Amino acid sequence: MFVYSNYYEKRKQGGDMGVFIRSIAAYVPEKRVSNEELSKMVDTSDEWIQSHTGIKNRHICADDEVTSDLAVRAAETAIQRAEIDKSDIHMVIVATASPDYSGLPSTASIVQDKLGLENAGAFDLVAGCTGFVYGLETGRGLLTGGRMKNVLVLGVETLSRITNWADRNTCVLFGDGAGAAVLSRDDDHADSILDSELRSEGSGAQHLIRKAGGSSEPINLETTKQEDLYIQMNGRQVYNFAVRVNTEVIQGLLDRNNITVEDLRWIVPHQANIRIIQAAAKRLKLPMDKFFTNIHEYANTSAASIPIALNELYETDQIRRGDYILLTGFGAGLSYGGNLLRW
Ligand code: ACO
Repeated sequence: MFVYSNYYEKRKQGGDMGVFIRSIAAYVPEKRVSNEELSKMVDTSDEWIQSHTGIKNRHICADDEVTSDLAVRAAETAIQRAEIDKSDIHMVIVATASPDYSGLPSTASIVQDKLGLENAGAFDLVAGCTGFVYGLETGRGLLTGGRMKNVLVLGVETLSRITNWADRNTCVLFGDGAGAAVLSRDDDHADSILDSELRSEGSGAQHLIRKAGGSSEPINLETTKQEDLYIQMNGRQVYNFAVRVNTEVIQGLLDRNNITVEDLRWIVPHQANIRIIQAAAKRLKLPMDKFFTNIHEYANTSAASIPIALNELYETDQIRRGDYILLTGFGAGLSYGGNLLRW
């Protein structure tokens, strides 16, 4: 096992053992599908989709692209930007609801192999659209344990593969993509992940579900209903849940860390529906320009949406080291949560 040698010495001396986000990157597939194109497939319109969700486009993976391919593209850039040796990455965490294979093997193991991370363990993290938020806190915990130096955290989805393209209630909402972060521990670096809130409301599990394929409803070629192979969602229930928990998480993280909204450079919410973000902003009496949004271009990419948004902020030079950023996520589970970062 790798033991980060200075750790115990440093801890004995009461030193700062900062876990920080060393790099961020993203990859979205080239193929871009507009609302107009979707309206040729199902009974919908650009006007309905934009006015109900804020979505204009989504990116959809190519026929020969799978979840681990998207993950590898994002991860390669993140590792390059981190300027670390691949042999120093000790864990790969892949947050996804659309893995390469259902249950086994983990997509993380495939990513570990494709990237050639010879010293890394790997596991998938299933927390719906909150996956990246869970992943950051999980990675932080692994690093503060003292045995690992760098952890690769990914949020990646090919929801197009588990979307019912005949169901206008869901097919207009989702997109494919990947985001990756390298977390590192550095004796001389202040903590980046200041606080996290990881929550679950499993009583609402049925509201966002892919029914067939697990032990509850194994796939039976004769009896399994076609629609049970795809995401099914009670949109209104999820909407109400999302507005409530987004508000709670933002307020809770600010209050218990004695940080005001003015201190925040950005709130980066899961990009599910612009109206969910607007409703949370209204409840919290916050200006919309505090919230970063790019849902118009990528739609809801589930676990990938937050790292894709963070990467866009990074690439457009809209975040600097030291900025306070608050991430909030919610989704299948029903799971929800947030992270308070000092970038
Ligand atoms: N085009 C046209 N009409 C549509 C479409 C569409 N694409 N989809 C639904 N409609 C219709 C409905 O059939 C309904 O018609 P009816 O009144 O004749 O029955 C009407 O529009 C209104 O339906 P509502 O459900 O009331 O629409 P609402 O304003 O609530 O918007 C939406 C629906 C966008 C799904 C919203 O509820 C929502 O965003 N919910 C949250 C979804 C979400 O955030 N999921 C996140 C997690 S995803 C994950 O974890 C993978």
